[in-house]
Amino acid sequence: MCKRWCFTCEMLGRARTGFVLLTATTLVFCYFLLRHTQVLHVQHKRWHSRERMRCVHSGTSNNTKLGTTMETSRGTGHCRTDCDIFVGERPPCITRNISSTGPWCHEMRRKRGNTKVKVNLDSRSMEMLEKLHGADLEPGGLFRPTECTSSQRVAVIVPFRERSLHLKIFLNNIHPFLKKQRVEYMILVVEQAPGSRLNRGMLRNIGVVEGEKLCKFDCYFFHDIDMIPLSERNLYTCGSKPRHHAAALARWNYALPYEHIFGGVVSFKTDLFKKINGYSNMYFGWGGEDDDLYNRVKHHNMDIERYPMKISGYGDLKHRKSEAQNARYSYLKTWKARVEVDGLNSLKYHRYLVEFRRLYTWIYVGIKEPEVLGSYLKK
Ligand code: BGC
Repeated sequence: MCKRWCFTCEMLGRARTGFVLLTATTLVFCYFLLRHTQVLHVQHKRWHSRERMRCVHSGTSNNTKLGTTMETSRGTGHCRTDCDIFVGERPPCITRNISSTGPWCHEMRRKRGNTKVKVNLDSRSMEMLEKLHGADLEPGGLFRPTECTSSQRVAVIVPFRERSLHLKIFLNNIHPFLKKQRVEYMILVVEQAPGSRLNRGMLRNIGVVEGEKLCKFDCYFFHDIDMIPLSERNLYTCGSKPRHHAAALARWNYALPYEHIFGGVVSFKTDLFKKINGYSNMYFGWGGEDDDLYNRVKHHNMDIERYPMKISGYGDLKHRKSEAQNARYSYLKTWKARVEVDGLNSLKYHRYLVEFRRLYTWIYVGIKEPEVLGSYLKK
């Protein structure tokens, strides 16, 4: 009897010890699980804020310290994700509809008189340019004529990389030129971060996608940074057809090198540009993207138009010519197969920063060449 009793006691004792041990293990396990999740959470938060700081740093430090010289901001590390960072006061255009409250600007434009523009090549600091041209601009380089209503809202998209001197000369010339035309416009400078070869077609597509989020423009100009218009009669509004503006250049002896050339400065009504699916994203390096664009225009049964040669003159600023890419010839043979799948509707990029500066909106983006090309080539 005693033996059985002792056996029961022992079993109970063991069960109690087992229970205590199990509870203790569960508690310890829960404790570590909780701590681990917290640590992960804190680590994630830290990573996130560090990434955001990098974005802000790469965009604003140059603004305050270095007078908006963009090259100096690069190489500081970039976001791995889209940062969704907007720096500066937003331009007010997003809420406004164009409706005529006074005379239309195009009715007030001067048709005759001295229409020649003198290119100003003076080298000025960005602060100086901001003082000279910024007083009547809204944030992001938006201009709205006060004495009349512009029938179109125009975005001038400028692909950019490592050309800060040209940017200053461009801004110093283009602002007075466009203000005189009484066009409602905004300058969008789209800069590609280092890491891949420059892709100007893609930067222009990005300009449109980001531009549409800001203002709903009626008309897009795609403008090389080294082109300065020479005639006031070269109007910066869009016609019913895509227009090639930069047709008369000194480097071509003021004659077109070939009939369907379509680079330098071109303009499109927004719906037309969307209809052709924008530029191809395949052209990394110099050349080809404008020829491909021309093919797209023709493919959609559109014609291009030009002003007469004496109005289409541009001063082109000197620069070191980038290396031409030979792959363009093979891409130009296969353009048709890609029109629907390669363009505005298939952009892959990382938006690091949008900053509304005094004379322009700066859109800083990352493009990964293998990521972009890979997605088309494996199809
Ligand atoms: C290139 C174009 C360029 C043209 C004029 C062509 O070979 O493919 O991109 O606009 O030359 O320089």
